[in-house]
Amino acid sequence: MAIRNLRLEGDEILYKKSKEVENIDERIQTLIDDMIETMHKYNGVGLAGVQVGVLKRVIVIDLYDDKGPIVLINPKIIKTKGEQEVEEGCLSFPNRFAKVVRPAEVTAEYLDRDGKKVKIKAKELLAQAICHEFDHLEGEVFIDKIIPGTLEYVEPDEGEK
Ligand code: NI
Repeated sequence: MAIRNLRLEGDEILYKKSKEVENIDERIQTLIDDMIETMHKYNGVGLAGVQVGVLKRVIVIDLYDDKGPIVLINPKIIKTKGEQEVEEGCLSFPNRFAKVVRPAEVTAEYLDRDGKKVKIKAKELLAQAICHEFDHLEGEVFIDKIIPGTLEYVEPDEGEK
């Protein structure tokens, strides 16, 4: 496993659309392991392949609960319900936070890392994370959809970085 370099604001790759994964091979497994390690290193809740420079439809999410990291390959959002106004950040936009409107609930389908088809109904933070990361696969970033006037820059704590 290895920490990969994060692609940050201003990097054009963040605006590119990712491609479907055709084979969940060794390379993809390594990518997944590295993405999880990278997400944990920077205390992120989610990470998309494009954020480490790989335009593949792979997402990792960890809400730091008892479920552990979730891996979503080729995800599709098949239904959304309601709205929630939430505070959001992104590892590609360090120390910046803003409010966005996200669906309150989403139903998504994806392949897990073993290639098994999974359908989940998510709400609250998990729904938010799935939508945020799914946007990355489409070449969209949260900063372009924030509620105007809500952007904040938060200084990193001493010792963090
Ligand atoms: Ni992000």
